Amino acid sequence: MEALPMIKSCRLALVLAAVVMSSSPAVASADLARSKACIACHHAERRVIGPAYTAIAARYADDSAAVGALADKVIAGGSGSWGQMPMPPQSNLSREEAETLVRWILSHR
Ligand code: HEC
Repeated sequence: MEALPMIKSCRLALVLAAVVMSSSPAVASADLARSKACIACHHAERRVIGPAYTAIAARYADDSAAVGALADKVIAGGSGSWGQMPMPPQSNLSREEAETLVRWILSHR
């Protein structure tokens, strides 16, 4: 008898955990973008200093080599793809973090 409420709340906890886990990659990437200050120059839908994530995603939609190339560019910095304004090197990023962020940016469609 007494076990029933316990079982119910355990089930609820499992469901909640599943929901949190299934949404965590996007949330984690958004947090990473915030903590690495990408958001100082980038916005999801509009140009700020750098291009919008949706514009980047549209441009590289059919480019299977984009993740690696863009991860390199984020770390090294560069200009000329979107205008004269350069992106400074984001050297506080590991290669893995850069790829995670690029994959997340390319999912903005
Ligand atoms: C100081 C401003 C600034 C910051 C901070 C910044 N960016 Fe950028 N970003 C730019 C600019 C400007 C461009 C356009 C460069 C160009 O025209 O080649 C750009 C371009 C890009 C591109 C597209 C590159 C291409 O060749 O198409 C990606 C992807 C990108 N940024 C990701 C990031 C990520 C991830 C971060 C955070 C780790 C970040 N940026 C931080 C200014 C910034």
